[in-house]
Amino acid sequence: MSSKKMKKYYIETFGCQMNEFDSERIAYLLDKEGYEKWEKAEESDVIIINTCAVRENAKNKLYGHIGRLKSLKLLRSDLLICIGGCSAQNLKEEILRVFPFVDIIFGTHNISELPNLIFKKVSAGRSICNVENDGFDYILNDFKNTHSFKACLPVSIGCNNYCSYCIVPYVRGKEKSIEPSEIVNAAKDLVLKGVVEITLLGQNVNSYGKDFEIKFEFPDLLEKIAQINGLKRIRFMTSHPKDLSNDLIKVISKNSNIVNHIHLPLQSGSDKILKSMNRKYSRGSYLEIIKNIRTQIPDCSITTDIIVGFPGENYEDFKETMDIIERVRFNKAFTFIFSKREGTAAYKLEDIVSLEEKKEWFKELLLTQNKISMEENKTLVGKNLEVLVEGAGSKGMMHGRLENNSIVNFEGNEDLVGKIIKLNITEAKSFYLLGKTLI
Ligand code: SAH
Ligand code: SF4
Ligand code: F3S
Repeated sequence: MSSKKMKKYYIETFGCQMNEFDSERIAYLLDKEGYEKWEKAEESDVIIINTCAVRENAKNKLYGHIGRLKSLKLLRSDLLICIGGCSAQNLKEEILRVFPFVDIIFGTHNISELPNLIFKKVSAGRSICNVENDGFDYILNDFKNTHSFKACLPVSIGCNNYCSYCIVPYVRGKEKSIEPSEIVNAAKDLVLKGVVEITLLGQNVNSYGKDFEIKFEFPDLLEKIAQINGLKRIRFMTSHPKDLSNDLIKVISKNSNIVNHIHLPLQSGSDKILKSMNRKYSRGSYLEIIKNIRTQIPDCSITTDIIVGFPGENYEDFKETMDIIERVRFNKAFTFIFSKREGTAAYKLEDIVSLEEKKEWFKELLLTQNKISMEENKTLVGKNLEVLVEGAGSKGMMHGRLENNSIVNFEGNEDLVGKIIKLNITEAKSFYLLGKTLI
């Protein structure tokens, strides 16, 4: 069919990899209805915004964004504007009240209904909001993979942990593990289509399977996936420290296609703050896990997430976080200033430290972590390491990803995309490396 006749859809994704996967599901469903994916919002018939809610500025950003779409809607009344994802789940009808020109609000559990909601909206004319959280709406075969060589697959949806700062359990619902056979079959299908790297996703992969009647946990799943012929790299995220088992460490060390990289969010190094965050581990038990990982998988890279300025945190607590940063020497840390989320337990906690002061602590943390990341990157210079080539980067360079998840920029051509090649690492920067192809 000529692209002129097909209806076009445009998707913008604001959230995490789980949201990216949801956008791939949306794309699959709309392709099946005969729509065509389009890169320009202003030329599309359907605009879908897949939103995030994890920090407060997500709402301001989203409202600014929807506001800007009004001018497009004024030009073309038949344009459909659909808002989905975690902020849609969180804000529900409020979006329609503020922006009556929005056509469809759909929740995180209503993705498979989107084509039907579009049909209903077009025939009835009225705006529709469907954020019912009553079904299990995940089908792993029905998604349009963005890349030809790598893919993400959820292993569970939702979260039962209720970390006191976090909105995710409220917008994604109760944790539910996906059947192992469904995940393994989806992974096999992907490999048959040429995929060499799969990232398994869950808010807490380490509690995978705890809702099954028979014992089948995350290490069992990893072991099964690792046996798929042709699958070169398996990644997974996120590991909650409270559930990280020795079995997981063993499975990683035993299977060469499970990458030596663990993303293990610390959040805080202070026992007082960890307790108030409801994280259910202590600085001592966290450091114990790190020791176990390092003895059994010596070259394992470890990355983390840190929240600075949680209510009740004082400079001494912050220094305890800094102390762990210096002891563990994370390869990379994703750092956030605490953001107050309505409906979460931490919303009501007294928060006396000013934002200015929190920003000072945040800067201090970044300086130290960037120095450590740089030093860790420098230890790789001179080595010949494998990268999966992902695409063209800046300044005409190609970029690939090491097993430890670091990016390496190098001179090469586009034919290499999707291939695993060896590079000689020539230079280290804080956030990436430079390399040279080996002839
Ligand atoms: N399920 C994952 C990821 C959750 S969201 C996990 O447990 O690690 C990703 C990161 O966002 C979290 O690890 C946390 O560091 C950060 N985050 C979540 N809620 C936040 C909030 N209210 N304020 C600041 N950072 C937050
Ligand atoms: Fe949020 Fe905690 Fe669940 Fe992660 S484990 S999604 S931080 S509640
Ligand atoms: Fe992901 Fe943001 Fe939702 S981090 S789960 S898109 S709140």
